[in-house]
Amino acid sequence: MQEDTTQVQAPASLAQTLLSPVEAPSHDGTTQVLRGGEAEAPARGGAASGGRSTILPRVEFVGEVPRLVVDARDRFEAAKVLGRGGVGEVVLARDNDIERPVALKRLLPELEGGAAIMARFVEEIRVLGRLDHPNIVPIHDVGVDPDGRYFYVMKYVDGETLEHVIERLAAGDPEYHQRYSFERRTEVFLQVLRGVQYAHAQGVLHRDLKPANVMIGRFGEVVVMDWGLARSREESARFPVDDKLTTLTAPRGRRAPADKLRTMEGSLLGTPAYMSPEQARGEVATLDERSDVYSLCVMFHELLTLEHYLAGKAGVSECVAGVLRDPVPPAYMVASPHQSGVPAELAHFITHGVAKDAAGRHRSVTAMIDQLLAIRDGKVPVQCSATMMKRMGAETMHAVDRHHRVVLGVAGVFATLGLVGAATVLRALVAALG
Ligand SMILES: Nc1ncnc2c1ncn2[C@@H]1O[C@H](COP(=O)(O)OP(=O)(O)O)[C@@H](O)[C@H]1O
Ligand SMILES: [Mg+2]
Repeated sequence: MQEDTTQVQAPASLAQTLLSPVEAPSHDGTTQVLRGGEAEAPARGGAASGGRSTILPRVEFVGEVPRLVVDARDRFEAAKVLGRGGVGEVVLARDNDIERPVALKRLLPELEGGAAIMARFVEEIRVLGRLDHPNIVPIHDVGVDPDGRYFYVMKYVDGETLEHVIERLAAGDPEYHQRYSFERRTEVFLQVLRGVQYAHAQGVLHRDLKPANVMIGRFGEVVVMDWGLARSREESARFPVDDKLTTLTAPRGRRAPADKLRTMEGSLLGTPAYMSPEQARGEVATLDERSDVYSLCVMFHELLTLEHYLAGKAGVSECVAGVLRDPVPPAYMVASPHQSGVPAELAHFITHGVAKDAAGRHRSVTAMIDQLLAIRDGKVPVQCSATMMKRMGAETMHAVDRHHRVVLGVAGVFATLGLVGAATVLRALVAALG
């Protein structure tokens, strides 16, 4: 055995699960051998997709008597490609054992074989495996396909990416505008925040937060996916692999589809269009939660304004320069022909999150959630006249909800007082009722 060789010893039962039943595990129980700088293909599975076969019997009934028929089929049958990102592809597959659709993610074929990429993929699987939250896509299993490509199995999200939602809104699709009011978009964003808040509490930074990595299911569930660049605090020290990888994506114009640029050289990780300035400077080792805060606020800015703040930048280097220098314009100043102006308090919230200096941002995702809930409930510090009007309106409505009899009782008085007097009385009443 060579000195630079790492053996991964799998228990016999695990090796059997990973390999096709028609092919015995290798004589010494070794499932994979990795050498420094390259990755050898893992042991191949059997014919057809998945390399694994079903375990559960089929249940048939002869009259009322159940009969168990053992006929091993391929465990996973690929149906179609769901999406491709910079590094991986995700396919819809059928799990023939549990009888449900699942999503399988594997590396793009051209990226297989590099130990650095493979190591990051293994890391993605393990980081995701530790995250257990309703707003994070759950992972079910791992495997190796007949071509020797590792894959992992996750919940199939029957829905669409936030990127697609933004595209439809930016195109002025009336159905999407009906469905995604500013309030609903804020609710979606709050769910993204809850997933990331949980990850941060586990010591995990996502580092690639963008609309293409958020999905909304058909029943409104919001999940953060693609933890391929995620990094847990404890692993940072012993995992210098990242700095060899680069996935670069230029921002999208208002209506143009995303312009995908990819390179495997350099030392940047992530998508510059959504990166924090410190991430764009390559300060990978010292990034903290506030880097994700920046990316989240860029995403929210685009979700509300329907335009990326760097739209129009040609290519990656212009885009990176924009991340470092171009301020994100206040969201209420970005006009769209398809919607009214972005509410001022949400615009202030975003501006606070996209300070170029991390010290000037929301200090955590928890702080963001608290502030967004306060805005939603009309309890925000007054920063401008629009905010004040909204706040008064929201407080009035809450007071009416809580004390509707009293409020209705004085409603008749308003008719005789005229509008100005009525407003004064109403304010006093709201203050008195709390
Ligand atoms: N669990 C899933 N269910 C349905 N579609 C998915 C799922 N995971 C990913 N996708 C689709 O595949 C695309 C790429 O997946 P992602 O994990 O972001 O890969 P990459 O690392 O290559 O960017 C996503 O943008 C989405 O459209
Ligand atoms: Mg992705």
